[in-house]
Parts: sequence; structure tokens; C-alpha cells
Amino acid sequence: MTDDTACIRATALTFSYGKGPNVLDIPEMTIRSGERVFLHGPSGSGKTTLLGLVAGVLKPTPGSLEVLGKDVGALSSPARDRLRASHIGYVFQMFNLIPYLNVRDNIALPVRINADRRRRLDGPVDEAVTEAAAHLGIEHLLTEKVTRLSVGQQQRVAAARAILGSPELIIADEPTSALDADRRHAFLELLFKNVEQSGSTLLFVSHDMGLADQFDRPLSLPELNRASA
Ligand SMILES: Nc1ncnc2c1ncn2[C@@H]1O[C@H](COP(=O)(O)OP(=O)(O)OP(=O)(O)O)[C@@H](O)[C@H]1O
Ligand SMILES: [Mg+2]
Repeated sequence: MTDDTACIRATALTFSYGKGPNVLDIPEMTIRSGERVFLHGPSGSGKTTLLGLVAGVLKPTPGSLEVLGKDVGALSSPARDRLRASHIGYVFQMFNLIPYLNVRDNIALPVRINADRRRRLDGPVDEAVTEAAAHLGIEHLLTEKVTRLSVGQQQRVAAARAILGSPELIIADEPTSALDADRRHAFLELLFKNVEQSGSTLLFVSHDMGLADQFDRPLSLPELNRASA
């Protein structure tokens, strides 16, 4: 495969928080379009940091990271936000739900504010929200405030929000950590179905190595990262 098919390509990617030591020093990493990658590494090894750079929440140095054909380090903060809103579904490790919105409005938010993602829905927003929520077993919670949900319920709201509108790249940071086996299975089924239907790339972080077989390949961050001790 040529580099044209890369969804994510890092070259000499380094990152530190403020004046601290390098958290990441990755000479080379390529994730091809349509790949489903299982990223793992010990706690504190920089997985969330790497996802933050890919999603444009953190700013890489120019020329070091290309995502969906864009040099994200060369983009302004609003341009990185637009790239994420249009093309990236992100299940954050801490969920980042909007506390004053109910479950339905949290799930619907990315497709309501972004026309690209809305266009990729088969039908009305409300139907898509209800369908995803039903699959994840949270349809009875759609009118609840998210602050009243259990951690596992919040995680499923975050998952539904990331998948809706079939973004080209789905990033999921330990999205199943608070789910029981049945919920985990239902979520992975929905995730893989969406990814297959839309040909999306999936970058999935988990400590649960038992899930790795379900992905195209595992990726060990400590093996990629020269900054890891
Ligand atoms: N906002 C921040 N400011 C300063 N240092 C940070 C910040 N976020 C993370 N770090 C540091 O960067 C390193 C990598 O953290 P990161 O959250 O990326 O690890 P992780 O692999 O996702 O860990 P976990 O499996 O526990 O989620 C850690 O040493 C952490 O202390
Ligand atoms: Mg993390």
C-alpha cells in the first residue's frame, strides 16, 4: 500500500506538556485508512496524549503528524476543531459529556452542529439517536440528564455520540472500561458494524488484551515510543 492510503501518519512526532519531559517521541507510525487498530500500553505511557494529538485537542509540531491528509500541526486551533467535528468521532476517556444537556441531546450534538456528519445519516437525527441508544441499552434514559447516569451509562452515551454520522476516523479511549460483558459485546458489535459500513478507520485504546483479536492489528505504544522508559 502507498502512503496515500494513510489515515494517520506520524513522522518524528514529539510532545511534552509545557516544559516537562517528552511524553512521546515516535519516529514513525502509520495507520492506513480503514484499519482497525488496538492501541495498548501501560498506564501513563502516553496513549491518551497520542489520541489527543491525532484528534487535534493537543497541538503537534508542524510536519510531524498528518491526519486525514491534513498536517494538523499547521492548523489553527479552530481549524483543528473543525476537522474533528466533521471527520472524527472521539470517545474520551473521561467522556466529556455536556452536563446541562440530556442524553438525547448529548448523543445528537455532533450531527446537529455539523452538516457533514448529518448528511451521512440514513434518516432523521432523532431516529438515528434512538437506534444507537437502543442498541446500547440506554433508550430508556434519553430524557435523563447525563449527570444522573452511572459511569457505564455515561460511557455508552459517549460511544453513541462518537459513532453517529459515521466519521471517517473513530478514536476510542478505553470505551469499554466501565461496561459489563454484555454491554461491552453490544458496544463492540455496534462499533464494528458502523466502521464496516462506512469504511472508517478505528483507533481503539484498551487495557483489555482479550479484545485485541477482534482488531486488524495490535499496536504497542511503548514499542513505538522512544520516550517511554
Ligand atoms: N494535562 C497534562 N499535563 C501534564 N502532564 C500530563 C497531562 N496529561 C498527561 N500527562 C502526563 O503524560 C504522561 C502520559 O499520560 P497519558 O494520559 O497520555 O497516559 P495513558 O497511557 O493514557 O495512561 P492511562 O492508561 O492511565 O489512561 C503521564 O506521565 C502523565 O502524567
Ligand atoms: Mg489514558
